[in-house]
Amino acid sequence: MSSSLTVDVSQNGSLSLSGNTRRTDTHCTLAELEDGDFSRLLDRPRHLNIERQRSCDQSELSIGMSPRRCDIFDYVFSPGVRSGGFNTPRFDNGFETHPMVAEAWEALRRSLVYFRGQRVGTIAALDNSDEKLNYDQVFVRDFVPSALAFLMNGEPEIVKNFILKTLRLQSWEKKIDRFQLGEGVMPASFKVLHDPVRNNETLMADFGESAIGRVAPVDSGFWWIILLRAYTKSTGDTSLAELPECQKGMRLILSLCLSEGFDTFPTLLCADGCCMIDRRMGVYGYPIEIQALFFMALRCAMLLLKQDAEGKEFVERIGKRLHALSYHMRSYFWLDLKQLNDIYRYKTEEYSHTAVNKFNVIPDSLPEWVFDFMPTRGGYFVGNVSPARMDFRWFCLGNCIAILSSLATPEQSTAIMDLIESRWDELVGEMPMKVCYPAIENHEWRIITGCDPKNTRWSYHNGGSWPVLLWLLTAACIKTGRPQIARRAIELMETRLLKDNWPEYYDGKLGRYIGKQARKFQTWSIAGYLVAKMMLEDPSHLGMVSIEEDRQMKPLMKRSYSWTC
Ligand code: GLC
Repeated sequence: MSSSLTVDVSQNGSLSLSGNTRRTDTHCTLAELEDGDFSRLLDRPRHLNIERQRSCDQSELSIGMSPRRCDIFDYVFSPGVRSGGFNTPRFDNGFETHPMVAEAWEALRRSLVYFRGQRVGTIAALDNSDEKLNYDQVFVRDFVPSALAFLMNGEPEIVKNFILKTLRLQSWEKKIDRFQLGEGVMPASFKVLHDPVRNNETLMADFGESAIGRVAPVDSGFWWIILLRAYTKSTGDTSLAELPECQKGMRLILSLCLSEGFDTFPTLLCADGCCMIDRRMGVYGYPIEIQALFFMALRCAMLLLKQDAEGKEFVERIGKRLHALSYHMRSYFWLDLKQLNDIYRYKTEEYSHTAVNKFNVIPDSLPEWVFDFMPTRGGYFVGNVSPARMDFRWFCLGNCIAILSSLATPEQSTAIMDLIESRWDELVGEMPMKVCYPAIENHEWRIITGCDPKNTRWSYHNGGSWPVLLWLLTAACIKTGRPQIARRAIELMETRLLKDNWPEYYDGKLGRYIGKQARKFQTWSIAGYLVAKMMLEDPSHLGMVSIEEDRQMKPLMKRSYSWTC
């Protein structure tokens, strides 16, 4: 295929592309991706009305256009383009639609939550069993795959409503007993309360004060910012993010994380259970899930924040933090065969700036399993790094988000995919995909989980398999040019998920059993499947959840490092 691009800069600074290309199709086929030449996708202009988005914006324009051609993910397709009928998922490129897709859409629509006549979210699970707990609420993190599915299907309204409603909840005064939480904290979940007497509806939110363990959700605010960017990217509507209240919401979330204090690391210090893994699982300290989401949210905020007086100051602080965070994560959280061997041979009790073993990790603390688990080719970001403690467990969400946000370098991203491929039985088995690997058992389980009966070995958060993670795996596969891995995972899922009524999680080393206490009709299992299918069908959707490597960060880091050495 030959193509040439013309970039026009209009007076208001927006760009339009006109492509001279022999092909005018808008979909990149899987066969092409499997050729391994993913770059072709980036080269292909869509014959649609393509407008330049903020992601490749002012700062670059001022440097001049020539050094970097924006890739296709930096463009959005005009809002009208994806306006498929509300009830009809769009499959117009001959891609074979699995019967499960229609069932999934129906189930997803059944989970819709309305507030005063508007669709504002989806319920966590539509399980009719007695023991509901809080699964009848709209969870911020759970809504993300639902939101992506609706955006991909040309239904952005519900996402906009959700963003605005949760923003209102953020401004509530949040108290646990007599202690007040930070202004920027976003709720873990909310619920619509109906008052039949007054015929009125109100919202009730949970910021951690009702959650088991009373932990505030650190991930909610990050997901909120990530979703705001996905909405902006997908619709081309910048007016939502530009609203003063959205700008303020973002600044409040970031203020919680960018404040200076006693920290010696750029990572974010957290309590156990403050993210998807919302029970005690030894993920306190600096869990990879939060660090990767933090990085992604910072990058999204950088694109969304207006450069007015207040915004400018934030953008500067974000830039510095991103720089330090990527250096820290790429250097200290990264584990591959070489790094493992280095740690194995570490000296301890080193003092001063020349220390190699900076965190004083004792080699004896290396668990047995990690020596077998580590493939010759491949690597991953470990679960946690803090003084004298490395949690070597593999966590799926953090590693996938590291790829999508470009926290992982291209080499690291490839290595993560290599690891998934070579440890397929352990990480995917019969149902994609393990939330973490391996499970903790016996004495360790007693101490770390506090004898949690829900988190017994190979169940739930402790090595259970969560179908929702499929969308993250698929996005990571597409970004790294390995869609065949995603297809294999989707096919596996299609043999069971509908038959089993969309469980929340599976148990067992291979993920063969429906989870002991798993809800059925778990919405994010349903939406995760749909998002994976749609993304594989039209890989340009990836742009909503992916950010390319910041070219400024890379050379700067490498140069300063080698120049000082
Ligand atoms: C469980 C999960 C949590 C999820 C919630 C609602 O508590 O651990 O991540 O948000 O269920 O589905």
